[in-house]
Amino acid sequence: MKKIVVVGSISTDFVAQTSRFPEVGETVEGQAFSTHFGGKGANQAVAAAKLFPHVQMIGAVGDDPFAKNLIANLENHQIDARQVIQVSQQGSGAALIVLAKGDNQIVYTPGANNAVTADLVDQAKEDILSASLVLVQNEIPKESVHYLLDLCQDKQVPVLLNPAPARDLSEDDIDKIAYLTPNENEFDHIFKGQDQAKVLAKYPNKLIITLGSNGVKFHNGQEVIHVPSIEPYQVKDTTGAGDTFNGALAVAMVHDLPLDQAIHFANLAASLSIEKIGAQTGSPNVAEVKARGGIEIDWLAG
Ligand code: RIB
Repeated sequence: MKKIVVVGSISTDFVAQTSRFPEVGETVEGQAFSTHFGGKGANQAVAAAKLFPHVQMIGAVGDDPFAKNLIANLENHQIDARQVIQVSQQGSGAALIVLAKGDNQIVYTPGANNAVTADLVDQAKEDILSASLVLVQNEIPKESVHYLLDLCQDKQVPVLLNPAPARDLSEDDIDKIAYLTPNENEFDHIFKGQDQAKVLAKYPNKLIITLGSNGVKFHNGQEVIHVPSIEPYQVKDTTGAGDTFNGALAVAMVHDLPLDQAIHFANLAASLSIEKIGAQTGSPNVAEVKARGGIEIDWLAG
């Protein structure tokens, strides 16, 4: 049985909607406040689970009132959460998000997500190594990501690293990754001043640069391929669009889709995701993807 394992953060998002971002030291009045399930790890797990039935999450929550709901949310999406630990005397991950002018600003406090240590990864290694694809992001300690890459390389389990938020990444680590999906800022951080086209050519079919509404670029071994984004009907909240992209891309990859088609599918899912408020709320299920149409998805069950 094919399975996607996500090793990553689980958080609550506290979202304020306002007409413009405050300046430093300024208070602005908002129009609405809401809480949502978030965390890049959980967002990607939920995005994948809405499209594919076998998803497992490795992560940690704290012992605060949010913890129970964070785990229940994963289970409500049929995600295997047996390896999500609860850490005592620690708050769960949280993100303060301001939405304005169709964009967002986020402050992330890891809390219990810092308990996703190399030891925890090691404890869960049987589950991790039974995955068809492992998804990981940078909201857990870098030592854990590093350990995970070594573990998976050793047993030839492919890893998709979404390097968000931006963090240094060695060439040695890039060599252990099957797919690397930075946005432009993250690309600049990792490859500091290097020419995008040259770096793409250096990592064919591995480096996938997401450019928001400008689509996605990768190199197919012969040339740079540009996969255009898909225009959403309306933009309500771009938070988590990247996570939906990564979750959907993982689903397409475990179905062995060619990379350009997999990216096209992930672009469609990401486009649908920004039509609703909340990082996970908008990520589409199979019926929603099919209802939007315009893309070949016979391979998608359900
Ligand atoms: O990628 C979006 C996520 O990043 C939000 O859900 C929030 O939790 C932040 O950490």
